Amino acid sequence: MSAKMCPQRAIDTAPLPLNTNVFREALGRFASGITVMTTIDEDGAPYGVTATSFASLSLDPPLVQWSLRNAAYSLPVFLKSERFVVNVLSADQESVSRRFATPEIDRFAHLNTESGLGGVSLIQGALAWIECSLETTLAGGDHTILVGKVLRARTFDHQPLLYWRGGYMPDSTDQTTVNQQKVTS
Ligand SMILES: Cc1cc2nc3c(=O)[nH]c(=O)nc-3n(C[C@H](O)[C@H](O)[C@H](O)COP(=O)(O)O)c2cc1C
Repeated sequence: MSAKMCPQRAIDTAPLPLNTNVFREALGRFASGITVMTTIDEDGAPYGVTATSFASLSLDPPLVQWSLRNAAYSLPVFLKSERFVVNVLSADQESVSRRFATPEIDRFAHLNTESGLGGVSLIQGALAWIECSLETTLAGGDHTILVGKVLRARTFDHQPLLYWRGGYMPDSTDQTTVNQQKVTS
């Protein structure tokens, strides 16, 4: 159909106010993998957070992105360190995902890690390690978008841990259903 023959489309001039619950539900319909982002502070202490906001950005140059809440305790450390590792979690790492989203615990206690570039922790058992330098940051509402330049990447043959509608797949207790424990970020 030519442009001339297109029927006139209605143009919304005054959108209805967005219902926050509907917005959250809609976002939850997007299935994603799960990452733990790790970094290191100036005294060599490891930091890490669970994040589903990870996405590929560019192949040439190789760039990735993710976002962290402005209120996150570890945001200043990620910004100052200028390095981070994307640990893509495996199907059997639900407990790792939960641990790196839990405040006020030693998230690295009894966790098997290796030391990557700049001493940043690589979590053993992950599906992939993507080692990055911080390329740039962008304001994103109540989050900060971190863009990383990929310096090195390694992959392993495991099944992925997935997140959908606020629950983990596969569920560690039941392979047939989604664990509906809600998480806020
Ligand atoms: C599955 C899952 C995905 C999450 N994704 C994000 C995310 O992409 N960005 C974010 O800021 N927080 C996310 N969170 C919440 C953070 O992991 C959590 O707030 C964490 O405690 C932040 O760490 P900090 O405050 O110690 O720095 C997620 C939590 C879970 C369980």
